[in-house]
Amino acid sequence: SSITVLAPATVANVVCGFDVLGFALATPTDTMHLRLTDTPGVTIINEDDYNLPTEPTRNVAGAALLALLREAPTGTGIEVRIQKNIKPGSGIGSSAASAAGAVVGANALLGNPFSKDELVRFAMFGEEVASGVQHADNIAPAIYGGVTLIRATEPRPDIVTLPAPELHVTVVHPQIEIKTSDARQILKKEVLLKDAIRQWGNVGGLVAGLLKHDYDLIGRSLEDVIVEPVRSILIPGFAAVKEQSRLAGALGGGISGSGPSIFMLSRTAETAQAVAQAMRRIYTGLDIDFHTYVTRIC
Ligand code: HSE
Repeated sequence: SSITVLAPATVANVVCGFDVLGFALATPTDTMHLRLTDTPGVTIINEDDYNLPTEPTRNVAGAALLALLREAPTGTGIEVRIQKNIKPGSGIGSSAASAAGAVVGANALLGNPFSKDELVRFAMFGEEVASGVQHADNIAPAIYGGVTLIRATEPRPDIVTLPAPELHVTVVHPQIEIKTSDARQILKKEVLLKDAIRQWGNVGGLVAGLLKHDYDLIGRSLEDVIVEPVRSILIPGFAAVKEQSRLAGALGGGISGSGPSIFMLSRTAETAQAVAQAMRRIYTGLDIDFHTYVTRIC
C-alpha cells in the first residue's frame, strides 16, 4: 500500500517562545509519497534539485523513519519520495516538514500504532540530523497543526494544542544563508532574571491572547528580549521590516525560527497583503533577492 502526505511549513518560536511555541502554515507544503517495501530499512528518493543526502542516517526523513522502525512491530521497509517545495534553510521548518511528513505517513501505512506525541519524538531525530539539536517547535505544529506549545520534551514530548483565532501570516525570506546550528551557537547560555521575567510574561500573554481571541494582547506579547537582539543582527532589513509591517497594520512578528525568514501576523488577509508590499519595498531597496508568502495559520 502507499500514501501521499502534504507536510506543512511551520514558524518556530513565535517571537517570545524560543523552542516552546510554533504554528503551521497553510502553504507552502512538501509532497511526500510513501510505500511499504519488502526490503527492510529506509529508501529515500529526492525529487528535487536541492542535493539533500539519500543515506537514511544523514537524511532528516530517513533518521526519523529509522527511529520509528526501531519501535515498529514490522519487518517491512519504507520507501519515501520527497518533493520539496519548502526551501531548505529558509527558516520555515523545511527539515521538520520532511521528518514529520515521513513519520505521519509511515504510521498510517502501519495501521497507526503510534500516538502523535510518539511521532514527535521520532521526528525529533530528524531535526537532530539537520541542526545538531532535538527541538520540537517545528515538528509539533507540523504534526498537530495550528499553534502548539511544547511544554516539555523530557522525559517525553508534552504537546499542548492552542485554539487560535483567525490569523494571517506574511513571511519574507531574504535569500541569505543562516544555519540553525550557527544561530544557536551565538546565543548566550545564561539570561538575566529581569529578561526572563519579561519573556515569560510575554509567553503567558501570547497564550492567553490566543485563547481569548484578544488581538491587542497577542500584539503586545510578540516581543523577545532574549534571542531576537542577538540573532536579528544577522538579518539585513530586520528592523525596517518590523517597523514598516506594524505601520501597514500587522499585529507584530519577528524572526521565523532561526531565520533568515521574518514573519508577521495580521488580523485580515488584506493587511497581510499590505505587509507583503512593505516587505517587498524594503528588500528591493536593499537589492537583496527575496521571496514573500501570504498565508494563514492552519
Ligand atoms: N527553536 C529553534 C531555534 C527553531 O530557534 O533555534 C529552529 O528552526
